[in-house]
Amino acid sequence: MKVLRHLFDNNKKWADKIKKSDPDFFAKLSRQQKPHYLWIGCADSRVPANEIVNMLPGEIFVHRNIANLVVHTDLNCLSVIQYAVEVLRVRHIIVCGHYGCGGIQAALESCDHGLIDNWLRHIRDVYRYHRDKFESLESEKAKSDLLCELNVIEQVANVCNTTIVQNAWKSGQELAVHGWIYGIEDGILKDLDVCTTGFDQISSHYRLK
Ligand code: CO
Repeated sequence: MKVLRHLFDNNKKWADKIKKSDPDFFAKLSRQQKPHYLWIGCADSRVPANEIVNMLPGEIFVHRNIANLVVHTDLNCLSVIQYAVEVLRVRHIIVCGHYGCGGIQAALESCDHGLIDNWLRHIRDVYRYHRDKFESLESEKAKSDLLCELNVIEQVANVCNTTIVQNAWKSGQELAVHGWIYGIEDGILKDLDVCTTGFDQISSHYRLK
């Protein structure tokens, strides 16, 4: 009970399985990590970054929080982005949301959820920017799906507007920022087609020359 034995058993089986197909796998990884991708996703247990894109340890650098938010003053997320871009020199940053997100759901409700409402405020802001798009939607599911998508698009812009990404582009570094959404019901990823690859593609209001 105290040591969660079954998790250690699982771990042993998992490590053995990997070593069976590549005996040097962990030795190689212990020397360095060189992922090409930074994944910013929701903390939801049903949306595990590596599994969804079938990648092994070492291939994807991951940051997750509730509702995959990129907040301008969140030192945790900004530090991850800085390390990924400046040290690991990843080629792609993927913001991945998911349908049926509990954070999005909570932001659509008017009840009090406690401290987390301060975090979810950022999603309420996204709703406010796009309020007109919700007026014609009748079902709660349609509203939730749309806000899940718009939230990803907003967070992609937030990544692009950081000084870190702007400076990378200004120095000629190749870096693409993507917005994807995952379907918990079918396990399928969808590209929201907001891929941003350069300084001139971000809103002029946020460009720092
Ligand atoms: Co979620």
